[in-house]
Amino acid sequence: MKFFIDTANLKEIKEAHELGVLDGVTTNPSLMAKEGITGKDNILSHYKAICDIVDGDVSAEVVSVDLEGMIREGEELVEIDSKIVVKIPMIKEGVKALKYFSQKGIRTNCTLIFSAGQALLAAKAGATYVSPFIGRLDDISTDGIGLIEQILTIYRNYGYETQVLAASVRHPMHIIQCAEVGADVMTGPLSAMEALLKHPLTDIGLEKFLADYAKGNSK
Ligand code: G3P
Repeated sequence: MKFFIDTANLKEIKEAHELGVLDGVTTNPSLMAKEGITGKDNILSHYKAICDIVDGDVSAEVVSVDLEGMIREGEELVEIDSKIVVKIPMIKEGVKALKYFSQKGIRTNCTLIFSAGQALLAAKAGATYVSPFIGRLDDISTDGIGLIEQILTIYRNYGYETQVLAASVRHPMHIIQCAEVGADVMTGPLSAMEALLKHPLTDIGLEKFLADYAKGNSK
C-alpha cells in the first residue's frame, strides 16, 4: 500500500520523506489555507516546493466548478511538475473533466467520493485515483472502510485500473484497516504514520537492552 501524506505543511512533508516511507502527497484548498498559502501565484509555487521534496505523485486541486475552468486550471497545474495529479471534485462537470484529462493522458484524482456509485462513475470516466473520505463517513456513523472494500470489489469485477486512495484517514487503525482490505493508497497525517511505529513493549525492551549493555560495559 502506498503512503501519501495529506498536508500542505512542508516541514511535515520533509519529515515523512526522511522517514523513507512516503510515496506522495495530497492537498486540498482547506489544507493550503491552514498553512496560510493564499493567492494563485503563492499556491502554484507552493505546489512546486512540495514537488521538489517528494519523489511520488502530488495531488493539486482545482477550485473551478465548471468544465472550462477545471480544464484551464488542470492544464496549468500539470505545467508545474510532472509529479502533479489534477484533483477534481465528484460533480457532473467533474466527471466530464475526468474524461477530458484521461483522453489527454493527464492523471487525475477524483475527490469527495462518498459512495460506490460515485467511484464507479469516476472509474468509467478514466480517473487515475478515486478518493473516498473514510474519516468523514465514520464521523456520520457510516462505515468508511466498508466503502473501500465495496469499491475494490467493483473495480476488481471489471478490471478498472483506477486506484483506490483512502482519504480522510485520521489514525493508525484506519491505516491498518486500509491495508487489510487492500486499498491501493492511503493518505493521512504524519501523526497517524508515526503512531504505527509505537509500542510500549518496544520501549520497555529497548530500555532493558540498553541498560544491560551499559552494565556489561561499565567496568
Ligand atoms: O484531502 C482530503 C481528505 O483527506 C480530507 O480529510 O480529515 O479533512 O476529512 P479530513
